[in-house]
Amino acid sequence: MRYSEVYSGWKDDPEGFWMEAAKSIDWDKPPSKALNDEDAPIYSWFDDGMVNTCYNAVDRHVDAGRGAQTAIIYDSPITQTKHRISYSELRSRVASLAGALRAKGVEKGDRVIIYMPMVPEALEAMLACARLGAVHSVVFGGFAANELAVRVDDCKPKAIIAASCGLEPGRVVHYKPLLDGAIDLAEHKPDFCVIFQREQEVAHLEEGRDVDWHAFQYGVEPAECVPVEGSHPAYILYTSGTTGAPKGVIRATGGHLVALNWTMKAIYNVDPGDVFWAASDVGWVVGHSYICYAPLIHGNTTVVFEGKPVGTPDAGTFWRVISEHGVKSFFTAPTAIRAVKRQDPKGEFAAKYDLSCLKTLYLAGERADPDTIEWAQNLLNIPVIDHWWQTETGFAIAANPMGIEPLPVKIGSPSVPMPGYDVQILDDAGHPLKPGELGAIAVKLPLPPGTLPNLWNAQERFVKSYLTTFPGYYETGDAGMIDEDGYLYIMARTDDVINVAGHRLSTGAMEEVLAGHPDVAECAVIGVSDQLKGQVPVGFLCLNAGVDRDQRDIVDEVVGLVRDRIGPVAAFKLAVVVDRLPKTRSGKILRATMVKIADGDSYKMPATIDDPAILDEIKDALRTIGYAG
Ligand code: COA
Ligand code: AMP
Repeated sequence: MRYSEVYSGWKDDPEGFWMEAAKSIDWDKPPSKALNDEDAPIYSWFDDGMVNTCYNAVDRHVDAGRGAQTAIIYDSPITQTKHRISYSELRSRVASLAGALRAKGVEKGDRVIIYMPMVPEALEAMLACARLGAVHSVVFGGFAANELAVRVDDCKPKAIIAASCGLEPGRVVHYKPLLDGAIDLAEHKPDFCVIFQREQEVAHLEEGRDVDWHAFQYGVEPAECVPVEGSHPAYILYTSGTTGAPKGVIRATGGHLVALNWTMKAIYNVDPGDVFWAASDVGWVVGHSYICYAPLIHGNTTVVFEGKPVGTPDAGTFWRVISEHGVKSFFTAPTAIRAVKRQDPKGEFAAKYDLSCLKTLYLAGERADPDTIEWAQNLLNIPVIDHWWQTETGFAIAANPMGIEPLPVKIGSPSVPMPGYDVQILDDAGHPLKPGELGAIAVKLPLPPGTLPNLWNAQERFVKSYLTTFPGYYETGDAGMIDEDGYLYIMARTDDVINVAGHRLSTGAMEEVLAGHPDVAECAVIGVSDQLKGQVPVGFLCLNAGVDRDQRDIVDEVVGLVRDRIGPVAAFKLAVVVDRLPKTRSGKILRATMVKIADGDSYKMPATIDDPAILDEIKDALRTIGYAG
């Protein structure tokens, strides 16, 4: 079949399309219908089906006689460890962990926070929750205690599963003190914590609250899979919004299974048994969908890689892993390829490995710049596929459907909408624009299965953030256009979210931290272009009258504050002191103009600007830190 036929087949009969896709999932009770639109614009999918995610990701492959196949390859150049876990082993390990959680009171619907680095136990913890119908929320290891505490208070976990430490090149990340700090900060206290002790750092366990990962599983009854409703939340994943409070994106069980399973062939062109690798982190949506769930649901082998594109030990790590484990489809962020390219521009490392197993490279998480795509294409001599999606959607909104029909690649475009997504470009008033015209990218409701049905405990925020600006549509927060051939182009965010090394961050959250410094009267944070990371944050500080301390000390202090409050992942290292911020006459800070000045782009003087002279002051301040041309 051709892509156009598949897409129009979906458009003609969306429910039929997804009911057909649902047949590839093993249901305890198959759904009688696909979409529930009774509470529109809040929609849900496969409500009356009963199903278990862990059964579909693990047990069913064992039951089908494929228990000896490798489910997970763990490859950690940081610890120089490699091992394989078969589907049978995975089932025993997950059933035992789930049994131990259940013995301590975790049941269907209870929340469990997972705070772990890239070790297979992170996936096992996710799957153990899914086995019980418990709702996990994985928190990325690069966040500080305060961010963890915010999530604890929002989702109120019964348990937290954490590792004793994470490992960054040259640095041990002390997870346990971060966890203890977060629990102290949070109002909600979990009943217990499970600590996976790593040999690189054995953490102190708090008597009465903490249990050891291995010890607490001793002698427990393994847990069977608990069937849950299709609409039951599989997990909550917090992501950055405009303010400091992260949004708890909910993923519903049935749609998650159906949509992810569909993507593995249609987009990533792998068959059960093939090795698939997403080099991301379990703390991000890419890690949820494409390190853990989709490859396992589809019966693939997934790679858990604990390392960096460069420096662990060199810029050849990706190619070694691909060659050694026979990876067929590889997914990473453009920033990772830029890091490799910067260290090995001629591709000498890649030349050392037999990469004939690799058929396609997929990029997402941020804009893929043409240089990076072309470099990778020339190096690997395979299609390099940009695709566009978000934490909210859980799978690609636009992609090149390699397993249906490889379409011509247009560099700079993540290609075409996937079935399920009726993508439109709208003007400010919500009217569809013509091909080639730039506007807000919106998706006609309902969104497909697998996308967020709501925000955790925040339906009002869900409606306000996504469904209000353009009634009848989901507002993606991205701006762009569609060309005459139906290819999408993603140009920029329409909100204060920035993308640093493929990590989604809120400038609003950083501003809240800066504003908390006693000497700061007012501040702004913008994302400026960076050759490696795509964007990096830069802070502007206006100090309180009478503050005459050395400004460098204040800058150092705010940099430290963001690291302590949000975490190293914010990569907040640059700030400047200015007398005033450019604003409109109604007092709105002109962040977009500041970004243009920093990037050396041309800009129109905003008609509503209060005092144009301030822009020169901003330019001068930016020059002191190497920006603004
Ligand atoms: N736990 C703790 N700290 C972490 C972390 C984690 N899981 N991940 C990153 N950090 C820290 C880093 O150590 C760094 O700390 P530092 O300020 O002490 O150096 C900081 O957060 C910023 O990290 P990052 O922006 O990732 O920069 P980097 O210099 O460590 O690495 C790249 C640069 C390009 C190699 C790296 O960003 C990369 O591999 N990016 C790929 C991104 C990706 O896969 N994103 C997922 C979306 S698909
Ligand atoms: P996240 O929720 O962390 O996955 O971030 C989603 C955001 O990252 C999107 O809204 C885009 O702004 C950006 N993004 C993701 N993939 C792409 C892509 N292929 N091209 C351009 N921007 C992207």
